Amino acid sequence: MKLISVNVSLPREVPHKGKTVSTGIFKQPVEGRVMLRALNLDGDGQADLIGHGGPNRAVYAYSIENYAHWEQELGRGDFAMGQFGENFTVEGMLDDAVHVGDVFRVGGALVQISQPRVPCYKLGIKMGVEGFERTFLASGRIGFYFRVVEEGEVGAGDAIERVTADPERMTVRQISNLLYFDTDNFDDTRRALRIEALSPGWKGSFEERLAKGTRAARPRERLRTLVVDRKAPESETITSFYLVPEDGEALPAHAPGQFLTLKLDIPGQPEPVTRTYTISDSPNKGYYRLSIKREPAPKDRPDLPPGLSSNYFHDRVEPGARLRVLPPRGKFVLDPWGARPVVLVSGGVGLTPTISMLNAIVEAGSRRPVWFVHGVRNGREHAMGAHVRRMAAENANVRAHIRYSQPGANDVAGRDYDSRGRVDADLLRGLLPGNDFDFYLCGPTPFMKSLYTGLLAWDVPEARIHYEFFGPAAVLKPPPEADAAAAVERLAECSSDIEVRFARSGLTANWNACLGSILELAEAHGLSPAFSCRSGICHTCMCALEDGEVDYVEEPLEPPDPGCVLICCSKPTTNVVVDA
Ligand SMILES: Cc1cc2nc3c(=O)[nH]c(=O)nc-3n(C[C@H](O)[C@H](O)[C@H](O)COP(=O)(O)OP(=O)(O)OC[C@H]3O[C@@H](n4cnc5c(N)ncnc54)[C@H](O)[C@@H]3O)c2cc1C
Ligand code: FES
Repeated sequence: MKLISVNVSLPREVPHKGKTVSTGIFKQPVEGRVMLRALNLDGDGQADLIGHGGPNRAVYAYSIENYAHWEQELGRGDFAMGQFGENFTVEGMLDDAVHVGDVFRVGGALVQISQPRVPCYKLGIKMGVEGFERTFLASGRIGFYFRVVEEGEVGAGDAIERVTADPERMTVRQISNLLYFDTDNFDDTRRALRIEALSPGWKGSFEERLAKGTRAARPRERLRTLVVDRKAPESETITSFYLVPEDGEALPAHAPGQFLTLKLDIPGQPEPVTRTYTISDSPNKGYYRLSIKREPAPKDRPDLPPGLSSNYFHDRVEPGARLRVLPPRGKFVLDPWGARPVVLVSGGVGLTPTISMLNAIVEAGSRRPVWFVHGVRNGREHAMGAHVRRMAAENANVRAHIRYSQPGANDVAGRDYDSRGRVDADLLRGLLPGNDFDFYLCGPTPFMKSLYTGLLAWDVPEARIHYEFFGPAAVLKPPPEADAAAAVERLAECSSDIEVRFARSGLTANWNACLGSILELAEAHGLSPAFSCRSGICHTCMCALEDGEVDYVEEPLEPPDPGCVLICCSKPTTNVVVDA
């Protein structure tokens, strides 16, 4: 990381829409060394001290790597240092590579990231592009402020060294996304509030959100039309679709591992069909890539129709097609800068989130050691094999192992695949030097069950095993009797008088304020109702609500059928009876 340019300016008056506006955004590079003080750099000043300046916004930093992006996006070649109003033009500090709360040594000063930038109309004035601030915000390339921990001299060319990383590891991009786009993500809001260094103004907004229980606008109101720019076969069964904005506005940033929910107008279907597909490439690409496997009819029921959406994509969706899409969602995500080495394990099309994670680690320039382990039947079904091999060959921190269960006649061991058989915990034990890794799993249910139980048997703590199902989820580890009893006892401490009766199971339990949903209450009492997304998208958990009333802690994408409830995202407000 490096300080490329130090830029300052005093406020000046500029004409704007018939008025005069005072702004300090027209920064100029400084020669030699400059003193960085608690409130700003010598020679720098802000016009509007409500929106700018102060100890929490002493220095604004922006990455030189973003210049190339905007030059291309805006078709410009006239940018000069300080173009985006930044004091520090920096290198190697993209918004998804640094965390709010990280502390850095730069020259003689010590600085800490306090918050992302809040762009205002003055950026539009500076860029000569009306409304540019909205495009800038949505792009996720916004830059961040430093507060000054130790004053000192700085100058262009200084190395920037991370002294400490914030324990929450929430990147600048994540925090900005959380405030503006991911507004119903209460878990991450609580996490952000644990960042001691976060500016009081941002903390206030997050606290207010939690206090009000603010919900995001109904998801359907946030549907956006994207256009298929490119369609690319990855294997005989998987094809990728590159989606770009129709309106030219930047795409909301996603975390590696998140998915999109689409509302598909499939000919012959009475209603739009809702399906979720993981974004299979890293953030910051200017497109979302979906890689979709064609689902045939089940082997034992060839009379049934093949998969509706996946076959529609393969057969009918071509470049130019317009698709209605909700913003990225999902909690199966990876921080490219996480401290622990990571193992990404996938089976079949389950590689879509793990490829996104692998690409994000490499493209962020993180040195996080990563193993990419993938199981697939043979070379005909193997997607993105050449890409993974290239990543492993070109990056010292990346290792890959590909296992085919039934190699074909043309598949060559050592070239196309590394070993034969199924991916399981024994394979990982043979490959890895120990079990001290974060594991990310995605694949068919038997694959996940075998890996999950195998990793636990290898003494990998549960908290280090992350997973996602593409179909109805299964309980990977049924709680042993003793655990279930202990959990029920613990829950008794915040039990309420409201009763939930699970009619089909014959169990009645008191609602518990320590739990997030009726589904969690069922699981805490040893029941295992079906679920998949656990966030109101897929309706897998829908049950008849035979009596009583519920409130939704997360607004469902679509309301459940009349007389039914989505137990994954609801809690009872009266005594209730559900058919589960
Ligand atoms: C978080 C998440 C991320 C995902 N990411 C991806 C991804 O990146 N790539 C990807 O390819 N998929 C992904 N999926 C899966 C995807 O959402 C779809 O479930 C998948 O494409 C199948 O949908 P479909 O409409 O093609 O099949 P469906 O129409 O839903 O059919 C599924 C299966 O049921 C069979 N079937 C049809 N009728 C019946 C019947 N009457 N009785 C029994 N069976 C029947 C079909 O033949 C087919 O085999 C993801 C899912 C989730 C939850
Ligand atoms: S599990 Fe998907 S809606 Fe409840």
